[in-house]
Amino acid sequence: MNKIRLLCLFGGVSEEHEVSLSSARSVLSVLRRERYELLVVGVTREGKWLLYEGGAENLTPDSWQNHTAGEVIFSPARGQEGPLLLLEGGTVRRLPVDVVFPIMHGRNCEDGCLQGLFALSGVPFVGSGCLASALAMDKASTKMILKNHGIAQAAALAVDLSEYRRRPERVVMAASALGFPLFVKPSASGSSRGVSRVESPEGLAAALEEAFLYGRRVLIEEFVAGAEVELAVLGNDDPVVSVPGEIVPGSEFYDYDTKYRKDTASYYIPARVSPGAFATLQKTALKIYRILNCRGLARVDFFVEGERVIFNEINTLPGFTSISMYPKLMEAVGVPYPELIDRLLSLALEEGAGR
Ligand SMILES: Nc1ncnc2c1ncn2[C@@H]1O[C@H](COP(=O)(O)OP(=O)(O)O)[C@@H](O)[C@H]1O
Ligand SMILES: [Mg+2]
Repeated sequence: MNKIRLLCLFGGVSEEHEVSLSSARSVLSVLRRERYELLVVGVTREGKWLLYEGGAENLTPDSWQNHTAGEVIFSPARGQEGPLLLLEGGTVRRLPVDVVFPIMHGRNCEDGCLQGLFALSGVPFVGSGCLASALAMDKASTKMILKNHGIAQAAALAVDLSEYRRRPERVVMAASALGFPLFVKPSASGSSRGVSRVESPEGLAAALEEAFLYGRRVLIEEFVAGAEVELAVLGNDDPVVSVPGEIVPGSEFYDYDTKYRKDTASYYIPARVSPGAFATLQKTALKIYRILNCRGLARVDFFVEGERVIFNEINTLPGFTSISMYPKLMEAVGVPYPELIDRLLSLALEEGAGR
């Protein structure tokens, strides 16, 4: 059997660059080399694409760039024998690729930009296409669409930077009408970057300025007191859903430090919810996956208050270290991490270039 020529991408011009390095480290350390002929490309924070020749152990923020073999470009042109162009002095070497696994998160990586490039090139890739990726990345857009389908969610106000600069007092008034505490978050970021809990009108300006650092549109949301619960969905036309997993942050909320730097959080798989809520969560996660036309994988996040299930957000390229929630949830329903990677690559190949 011929090996599958797999291109793994990590890094990216994204607030979640470092998270991606952790995800990629995990994937590279378990990938079945007998099955895949591996090419690895790291994208620097500045957006330079470099062919990576180090192992999983060298894939750290400080050292990965010392293990690279030159600059590469991924070409959008079709019909060439290799879309990955290695620039060697004055010459160009084409490297063939059968499938791409973007092990990356957030802006420029999970938001349809990269997916557009792969779609143009005609090379199959892991995860959702351009539109689903773009919609899922933008919380205001996701919420608008899901509202039309009757999916319960926190009341929210989307505010654009220009609008806020013109009439800040109006925004403060409209936000206050939602009642305090409030959550303020960038519409399109991740890893809790720019997210704040606001206790009173006086705190709004600082929270909005912080959120606007990550994009021109911000969401102001009513506070939901429920348990935080996440589900993993895997598949194309017949997706499967995991059991819900529960996160107890052990801090004010599930912020960046709680996610990646501290160990106050506790996790419960399955989540400690009623059988009714359990079933509603699974049904709703699948429904959302279908509404947005996701492919491959997504993690769908909710709050649960008793029997009420309230949608929070969806991630089309969720954190993917071996101990991240998505792989843990799939493991809990019988898909171990190395097999999960194989399944995702098969789904990408099955989906093919026709998106
Ligand atoms: N409306 C809300 N009510 C209560 N907590 C919230 C709300 N929105 C966000 N949070 C808290 O902030 C965290 C990060 O917000 P989230 O919307 O998930 O953004 P991100 O995409 O950065 O993960 C959540 O995991 C949760 O702890
Ligand atoms: Mg989140």
